[in-house]
Amino acid sequence: MKRIVAFSGKGGVGKTTSLALFLKYIIETKNKLDILVIDSDPDANIADVIGEEVQFCDTIGGKMKDLKDKIQKRQLPLDVPKNQIIEGDVYDCLIEMDDFDLLEMGRQEGEGCYCYINSVLKNVVDTLAKNYDITLLDSPAGLEHFARKTGRNVTDLVIVTDPSKMGIHTLKRILEITSEVDLKFEIIWVLGNRFPANLRKILIDEIEKINQQNVKLLGFISNNDEISAINLTGGNLLDLPKDNSSYQEAKEIFAQIM
Ligand SMILES: Nc1ncnc2c1ncn2[C@@H]1O[C@H](COP(=O)(O)OP(=O)(O)OP(=O)(O)O)[C@@H](O)[C@H]1O
Ligand SMILES: [Mg+2]
Repeated sequence: MKRIVAFSGKGGVGKTTSLALFLKYIIETKNKLDILVIDSDPDANIADVIGEEVQFCDTIGGKMKDLKDKIQKRQLPLDVPKNQIIEGDVYDCLIEMDDFDLLEMGRQEGEGCYCYINSVLKNVVDTLAKNYDITLLDSPAGLEHFARKTGRNVTDLVIVTDPSKMGIHTLKRILEITSEVDLKFEIIWVLGNRFPANLRKILIDEIEKINQQNVKLLGFISNNDEISAINLTGGNLLDLPKDNSSYQEAKEIFAQIM
């Protein structure tokens, strides 16, 4: 079954890192799956952790800035519908990696209204995801995109938290907002990242107190020096050794999603 898995949570808790570990797991164990990774963080986080450099002009934000300028200067061909141009731009932005495709959303630049472009984009990205067995979405930190109801088709929402009061606070706010705006996920997973063993019970108790049937504990990933070192030196998280202990934990917990 097709899965669309989105990673969310407070800034810096390990959304992008967990996504990369999940990606490594499905590349290594579920061969022949068509995988799409959408980086909707304006700072191009995924590219960073897999050691890729993506220029602004190759992101959706870059293409859409071009398009908006052309609309304003009336430089667009009259015989091609605008939504078709946007669709073409999205396909142009797909970066084909060895084992998956990557779409960098980039940031929105410049003045003027992006409403029309954004509404078309939402549909194009939904349609694009239909061509893949699994789509992984790296959401920006914060809650605004939930209020705007992006990610309507997400099947699994993974909320990442670190061992901090603020991380757990954001987790609860995300749960509140998604139910306020009636965003429906098949399942909402809570992932405790960098949790020392002696503090895990606190998160387990917090989740038990949340009275929501589709909210489940995914599990824990320990803090790991090798992960920090890869980040510090600009390496590729997908090259983490297979016997890395945090990757082993990640594999076990992510198997629940697949
Ligand atoms: N399990 C871990 N062990 C060691 N370091 C980790 C671990 N998880 C995350 N980190 C480090 O914590 C920092 C933040 O992680 P990451 O970029 O994945 O967070 P994020 O939630 O995506 O942040 P942002 O909100 O800025 O997108 C990075 O330096 C990363 O290497
Ligand atoms: Mg990130």
